[in-house]
Formats: sequence, structure tokens, C-alpha cells
Amino acid sequence: MSDLVTQFKNFMANFEKGQLIGVDIGLSSVKVALLSKGKKNKFKLENYASIPLSEAAIIEDEIQKPEEIIGALIQALESAKIKPKICNLGMDGPNTMTKRLQVPDGSKDEVEDNILWESEQYIPFGADESEVDFAILGKLEEDDVVDVVVAAAKISVIETYMEYLREAGLIVKKVDLNVFAINNLFELVVQDELENVSDLGSIIIDFGAQTTTVLVYKDGGPILSKEIPVGGVLVTEEIQRQMGVSYEEAEDLKTSGDENGNLPEEIVAIIQAQIQNQMSELRKVLNFFIAAGSSEQVGFCYVTGGSSRLPGLMSALQDIVGIEPKLLNPFDVIDYDKKVFDSESVDSISATGAVSMGLGLRSAQ
Ligand SMILES: Nc1ncnc2c1ncn2[C@@H]1O[C@H](COP(=O)(O)OP(=O)(O)OP(=O)(O)O)[C@@H](O)[C@H]1O
Ligand SMILES: [Mg+2]
Repeated sequence: MSDLVTQFKNFMANFEKGQLIGVDIGLSSVKVALLSKGKKNKFKLENYASIPLSEAAIIEDEIQKPEEIIGALIQALESAKIKPKICNLGMDGPNTMTKRLQVPDGSKDEVEDNILWESEQYIPFGADESEVDFAILGKLEEDDVVDVVVAAAKISVIETYMEYLREAGLIVKKVDLNVFAINNLFELVVQDELENVSDLGSIIIDFGAQTTTVLVYKDGGPILSKEIPVGGVLVTEEIQRQMGVSYEEAEDLKTSGDENGNLPEEIVAIIQAQIQNQMSELRKVLNFFIAAGSSEQVGFCYVTGGSSRLPGLMSALQDIVGIEPKLLNPFDVIDYDKKVFDSESVDSISATGAVSMGLGLRSAQ
């Protein structure tokens, strides 16, 4: 009983203060962001924590160590002093899918039926076993069709994740896809020039630890989203292998260099090889949008994710996309308290916390 009362109080506290929590369970760490929406609808990052996960906590998108994930969630909430419980959970990986579709227009019910019917063929893990959601982006009057973006996730996987969050004391109000979190954050960051960016199109890339998520945004929403199974952990593993150090030591060497803060030559070579590998994978996915003379070429390129900080990555990316990539900086539009976050943590959160902040933006909807 008292549990219920506490839960109810937390629920109300969440809404009264307009506090929004985004939870991102990444390969390298669990991230929790608490945002608030203040005057003039301006968002503020109130609290944030990222708790590193061990090497084997998640393998090929499967959580191998639920206790570790739950423990990391509890630790994140404690260390960020986050009291409210209602959150938006982000998902990605092979148990999720997104698709931009055009379906015949009609009554509300007809359109919904059309969307569900059309989506089925794109859900590799079975529509019957999936939670399907969609957002209508607009109508193309001349063709009498509705432009939509559809998202689906496997119910059994959602339930497993929700159970872990429940065990950590969180209540999942909404389940979102990480790629939409990036999409929403992107729309917010470029809000002042959204029309132009949307017309010309933009590539947005999240360079994570295990996954590189690619989004092409055009005409009011994502027209392509793709997860490539390459990321920063490949660099860490190669450092581990070549230098005979532990995973943690290899992470340290990669992100902070040796005792003098310099990157040893071997590591620079490993990073360069990995960047080349990533760029050739990206080229395959983006070919259509970056090929010289292609009518689908886009005007902008933004990046986020911890591995976007790999030295040399931005210039290698510029070489393949032919546009100067910019860092998608959440703090261009989201306030934060300088007493809570120092400049170093703000810099790191701006890359690794983008998904959790993007999830937080929508947790009140
Ligand atoms: N300064 C840095 N230089 C190079 N790599 C970095 C730096 N900071 C973080 N990384 C790398 O970024 C990765 C973590 O980034 P991020 O938190 O975005 O990934 P994730 O969300 O855990 O992974 P995924 O999205 O693939 O599940 C790690 O591989 C980490 O080593
Ligand atoms: Mg991530």
C-alpha cells in the first residue's frame, strides 16, 4: 500500500514540476537525464548521470547481465539525485524498426488501417508480436496520400526492458526509439532554420560504442534510418588485443591517452583503421545521398555519440559526405545549471547524453 502511495506521489510530482526523464541503455553505459520545461517552453537539463557497463553486460543487443543494468540504473538515479520516476525509455537494435511510408488518404480509421497494413511487410520480427506506433507528417494533396513515419518494437523485448526499469524503481510511461530521440533533439537544435534544413535535407549520425545510427532527415521527418553494427568498442577491443591491457585500461587509453595525455602511435593507427572501416560502411548506406551529382544530395550533416570524438573522424566524414559536419550540440538550445555541471562534463554529455536528452524531451507527451 505505502508503495502505491509513494508511486502516486512521485507520479504527481513528475507532472507538477514538468520533469522529464529519458533513459538510454547503451552498450558502454546507462544514461539518465532529467529535464524540465520552463518559461517560454525552454528546456533545462536538471540532472544527468552516466554509469559505465562492463564489457559483457550487453552482447549483440541482448542484455546478458540484467542485475548489472538494474544496478547501474539505480546508481545513476542516486548519483544524479533524481527523485521523480516516470520516464521515457529508448530502444534500438534488431528488435526495432522504423519506416517512412505514404499510404492512401481516407477517414481517420481508414488511414490507421492503411498504415498498419502497409507496415506489416517491413516488420522483420512479426507485426503480431510488435507494438506499432506512427506519426503523420502531412498530406500530399495532389496524390491523395498521407505521409507517415512508422515505428515498431518487439513486445517481449519491451516488456523485459520495462521489468528491469521497474526493478530500478522507474515507471515507463512511454517507449520510444533512440533514432526518434535523435530526430527530436535535432529538430529542436535546428529549430530556427528547420524549414531550410528540412528542405535541403540533413544527415545525422550517432557514433556509439557498438552501433553507428544514421538518419537522413528531409521534408519534415526521417526518410532513412539505419543502424550499422560498428562503433567505438571495436577500437577498444583492438587496443586491448594489441597492447595486452584490460578493457577498462583500453577505454582509458583511447579516451585520455597515456600518462602525459598523449595518444601512443599504435593507438592512433588503430583509430585510423577503424575510422576508415566506419567510413566505408557509411558510404554504402549513404551512397544515394552523397554521390556526386545525385539529385538526392543533402545540405547538412550533424554528428553525436561518444565515438564522434575519435580524433580524425570529423575530417574523414567530411571527405565522404562533402559537407562540413557539425556537432549536434544539445546545449545550443537546452539550458543547464553551471553549478551542477562543469565545462568538462557538459562537453562529454553533449556527445554521449544526446539520446537520453532527446528521450526526455518527449516523456511528458
Ligand atoms: N573522447 C573520446 N574519444 C574517443 N572515443 C570516445 C570519447 N568519449 C567516448 N568515447 C567512446 O564513445 C563510446 C560511448 O559513446 P556512447 O555513450 O554514445 O555509446 P553507447 O550509447 O554506450 O553505445 P551504443 O549507442 O552503440 O549502444 C565508447 O566506445 C567510448 O569509448
Ligand atoms: Mg548510444
